[in-house]
Amino acid sequence: MPRVSYVNGRYVPHRRAAVHIEDRGYQFADGVYEVIVVHNGQLIDQERHLDRLERSLRELSIPMPIARRAMCVVFSQMVRRNLLKSGLLYFQVTRGVAPRNHGFPENVSPAFVVTARSTPPFNKEATLKGVKVITSPDIRWKRCDIKTVSLLPNVILKQKATEAGAFETWMIDDKGFVTEGTASNAWIVTKEQEVLTRRTGPEILAGITRISVIEIAKQHGLTFQERAFTREEALNAEEAFITSASSFVKPVTHIDDQSVGQGKAGKLSMSLLEWYVSYMEKGSG
Ligand code: PDD
Repeated sequence: MPRVSYVNGRYVPHRRAAVHIEDRGYQFADGVYEVIVVHNGQLIDQERHLDRLERSLRELSIPMPIARRAMCVVFSQMVRRNLLKSGLLYFQVTRGVAPRNHGFPENVSPAFVVTARSTPPFNKEATLKGVKVITSPDIRWKRCDIKTVSLLPNVILKQKATEAGAFETWMIDDKGFVTEGTASNAWIVTKEQEVLTRRTGPEILAGITRISVIEIAKQHGLTFQERAFTREEALNAEEAFITSASSFVKPVTHIDDQSVGQGKAGKLSMSLLEWYVSYMEKGSG
């Protein structure tokens, strides 16, 4: 079955889906995006992703390209037309197409594209193997709360992880605190069984999986605190994990080649993963 994408009002074969070379997303990274996970054919946390999209757009003074309800129709069409059972829905809004000038163009409509990609169904055993992360200085700008397509530092640091045989890079701020991963939020569980993740602010993206996992942790009575932790605290932690739409809850076994806790998926990380999967199974969003 050929893949179908959506480009500014049209459903088109994926291999022919294209935007103009003067799209400001292409020339200036002047746009924002979202990734929603599809689990058992259901879009997980769709409303929260749309809230975050609207916020990112507001921060950049880009209007919504179509009404929010119309977007939801496009998303369900994309799931249906691509026969998506398990996968990722990617959507992007840029300021639009205009002759290249830095300032905002006038009378330009934002461009809206959506792609859908099938992924193998959730595999608990594979996830529980855990992943390695490395650390590196955070070289990004000062508005990481906006989910912009301007991802060059993230791309460079993710590549650094890949070359080091790791899955993710945890970025470290000027004061030695972990901000987040290049495409995920960072968490640890201390020796005192306290679950920690950094407070939201301009230094990190307010992950949607992060919000859902915080709610789940609280529902299950875990001790939880939103506060920044240093690289050293992470190295001395009992457990570590990352969260994102594509990774769900992924245990971290090593940081910079030093084992975290027992060097395998931790107990609370595994419980949080199981609870998160059953949350998805309820068709949340
Ligand atoms: N990345 N932090 C960053 C920098 C991210 O890019 C992401 C998501 C997250 C986690 O957010 P969420 O839980 O809403 O997925 C945190 C997506 C998946 C991506 O770029 O592919």
